[in-house]
Amino acid sequence: MKVTIDGQEIEVEAGTTILQAARMIGGESVPPAMCYYSKLKGSGGKCRCCLVEVAKGSDADPRPMPKLMASCVTGCMDGMEVNSKNSDRVREARQSVTEFLLINHPLDCPICDQAGECDLQDLSFEHGKSKTRFIEEKRTFEPEDIGPNIQLHMNRCILCQRCVQVADQLTDNRVHGVLDRGDHANISTCISKAIDNEFSGNMIDVCPVGALTDKTFRFKSRVWFNKPFNAHRECTTPGCCGKTTVWMFGNEIQRVTGRKDQYHEVEDFICNTCRFDKKEVTDWVIEGPRKFDKDSVINQNNYTREMDTVHIATEEGILKGREQDRKKISMTAIPLNKEEQEEFNNGNL
Ligand code: SF4
Ligand code: FES
Repeated sequence: MKVTIDGQEIEVEAGTTILQAARMIGGESVPPAMCYYSKLKGSGGKCRCCLVEVAKGSDADPRPMPKLMASCVTGCMDGMEVNSKNSDRVREARQSVTEFLLINHPLDCPICDQAGECDLQDLSFEHGKSKTRFIEEKRTFEPEDIGPNIQLHMNRCILCQRCVQVADQLTDNRVHGVLDRGDHANISTCISKAIDNEFSGNMIDVCPVGALTDKTFRFKSRVWFNKPFNAHRECTTPGCCGKTTVWMFGNEIQRVTGRKDQYHEVEDFICNTCRFDKKEVTDWVIEGPRKFDKDSVINQNNYTREMDTVHIATEEGILKGREQDRKKISMTAIPLNKEEQEEFNNGNL
């Protein structure tokens, strides 16, 4: 069936959601997604970041849908017409959702390990406002130890529930989930249990913010100072692909993660042994630098292609300064060069 998003028509299979169709088209029409994760069944429908306007329901029923729809959980219909980036209503709604998400989120990016690869940072950059209208105190939680590998920082959680789905779908014994309701809702283990399943580390990769971070990497480096390389090893853990990205600082592997695509989703899940225990270069076959398609600060100093040599002809200018400034600040008694010496001698300076 045919669906049109921002004027771009695409043919999709029955059962495709609007978000998936938009990702097939790519570019700026792709709605942001904070809770949908294509590798996790049943994800989506929680954050409302991916709202779109359905201007025409289908060929059979061309009426527009009165409310904005969450594109990650709305299926395409034949002849459907959707507005994403082209709609002012959509832009306003996404700005409001961003404002809501930031109400309780601490602005601690300068000390947060997720900074530089945080989906909420990217969302705020595109849809956020520079001012806040929230004058009340932010919701805070007591720190909770959830085990030796993963740090939970509940104040940063946006309750997308991806980590719960990882525990449900990749591990055989989920010990954490969403406790309490309303603005008390929080991610916690049931009666302070430790999360130690072999695939639990994937919760760190799917968390869109810095609520779940890697204890073996915590405060070691800013992500943009690391060089990411694709690497693999013969992993014997059943279900682990053994294909990772290792984040290096010099010859040291500081962090191991799954390989993430432009939507910041892992290509495949990895086990805790690969993630937390294999930090020696000799543990890995390094394939080469990892290329990121995602717009992010981690693309700073991208070294996967040869850089053009940059010539900056400032040397002379910097030393000499602008003429008008020189006149203002130079000691006229000391002429700068021969011509100025002459001018000086002639009394023109
Ligand atoms: S801890 Fe992270 S992954 Fe889990 S619900 Fe909160 S934001 Fe989502
Ligand atoms: S990505 Fe669609 S509601 Fe969160």
